[in-house]
Amino acid sequence: MNNSVEMVEKTYEEEPYISYQYPQSSPNRQWVAGFVFGLNAPDIQTARVLELGCSMGGNLMPLASRYKKAKFIGVDLSKKQISVAKEIAKELSLKNIEFYAKDVTTITKDFGEFDYIIVHGVYSWVPQEVKEAIMRICGECLSQNGLAYISYNTYPGWKGKEILRDIMLFNMDKDTPASQKTVNDGIDMLNYMRQNVGNNFIRKILDDSFSGFESHGTSYILHEYFEIFNQPNYFHEVASLAKANGLEYLSESEYTQNIFPPISNEVKERLLKKCAGDRVKFEQYIDFVINKTFRQTIFCKKENAENIKVDFTYKFEELNKLNLAGKFSYNANIQRYVSQTQVHMPVGISKLLNKITDAYPSSVNVGEFVNELKDKSQEELQRIYQGVAFLLSNNVCYISPVADKFLSEIPKKPKLNSETLALAKYKVRVENLDNISFFTPRGETFGIDKNLDHRILALLDGSKDVDGISKEIFKMSKDGIFSFVVEEMPVVEDEEILKQAKERANFIVSRLFFEGMLVK
Ligand SMILES: C[S@@+](CC[C@H](N)C(=O)[O-])C[C@H]1O[C@@H](n2cnc3c(N)ncnc32)[C@H](O)[C@@H]1O
Repeated sequence: MNNSVEMVEKTYEEEPYISYQYPQSSPNRQWVAGFVFGLNAPDIQTARVLELGCSMGGNLMPLASRYKKAKFIGVDLSKKQISVAKEIAKELSLKNIEFYAKDVTTITKDFGEFDYIIVHGVYSWVPQEVKEAIMRICGECLSQNGLAYISYNTYPGWKGKEILRDIMLFNMDKDTPASQKTVNDGIDMLNYMRQNVGNNFIRKILDDSFSGFESHGTSYILHEYFEIFNQPNYFHEVASLAKANGLEYLSESEYTQNIFPPISNEVKERLLKKCAGDRVKFEQYIDFVINKTFRQTIFCKKENAENIKVDFTYKFEELNKLNLAGKFSYNANIQRYVSQTQVHMPVGISKLLNKITDAYPSSVNVGEFVNELKDKSQEELQRIYQGVAFLLSNNVCYISPVADKFLSEIPKKPKLNSETLALAKYKVRVENLDNISFFTPRGETFGIDKNLDHRILALLDGSKDVDGISKEIFKMSKDGIFSFVVEEMPVVEDEEILKQAKERANFIVSRLFFEGMLVK
């Protein structure tokens, strides 16, 4: 291991990165992006998936829980993080996941072939030789129709942010390792400057970045601004290293950005003409126009380049494969259905939107929905398929080649899926286990309060109804394990404690139900 790689390892051993879920990096999202651009990516249910720089496995474990026949391999330099990952995977009884403490530069082709490769939050934070190794592995180890996701900080947006990083690094005591205090001191200094610098370029960058600082935790700021390596790239540089390793640019994982680039039609026309079909060049110009700071890019093998379609039209039978899950509501003011993110839906597809909403959290298969439609005219079919294409290109609901069938009502005695139950019990046993969060079957983070909610989850083994659960919570409260607080005052009356316990239990159970985390 060379010196710069050792330095990186040391920082992650000292301040492990909290291991969250990144659904935008998942094989499902990569498959959907492939579909949008005309590729037929491998079956996600039986795929072999590799994550480089997986930290404590928080991104891979939800996938391993969801796709039991697929195989997952996580690699990270930090032995400490990998040992936590192994321990948690064992607690969750995950048999289809392996973790290796390994420097990615030592990985060769014989490490195996993978259908999906995930490299989230690593590429810009490692020395050049590691970047090259990441691209080499993606080129050498991807299966024929496989896809690879790599996220990274980009220029030109990071040119400005680099100044903030420089200020914070200059401000810190070089002899002491970066810590929560370093972050606070750095932010204080930036805040001071923001209030006192003139109306110049740096002031503009400070203004643009500040809300981000306030919403991100210490661990993120430490790694983004104090990491020894944070070397962003222009998109065209990343794409060109990818090309040199036999890869082709497919799209961003948030592929709507490719379909509807955030620029005016006039600029778009001009750039399209200038770039004459060179998609990398086109994307790079957009980055200049919008001052892009971060990309989450999907690559395919260069042999598939000629199969990439950018007309975004789909045959009906292709759309039949898709399963859709989401919630839509009718907005009487604008006389339109809207998605949860308030995107206006096209008219004439209310039957489909209602069906999807009623089935939630389960999904609706497009082919089955169409088959079951009574008295359908050619016109209606046309409208429905156009509607599905709209949902797809706007990415306004969860889309998957795999159907999700969850419970359709909350059982009297709620029972969690086995992995969540095991994680809850583990978190109750090992307090302050903050390095991996709860996750939903769709790979989203399931955020809950620590002390009480972990205990509620640990009670959901299907043996008690909500009254029984509330009584257990009541006992814990009486034993002083935690206390309910209302308007900053601890709740002491038994009746009120029981009421609070029941309300909380009902709330948590209903959230779990809507995320598809309860089982029979
Ligand atoms: C910023 S963290 C991101 C972790 C995780 N992917 C995420 O997004 O939460 C970068 C990770 O890359 C790992 N890493 C850095 N250099 C590496 C190398 N040469 N080989 C393997 N892993 C490496 C670090 O140990 C760290 O866990």
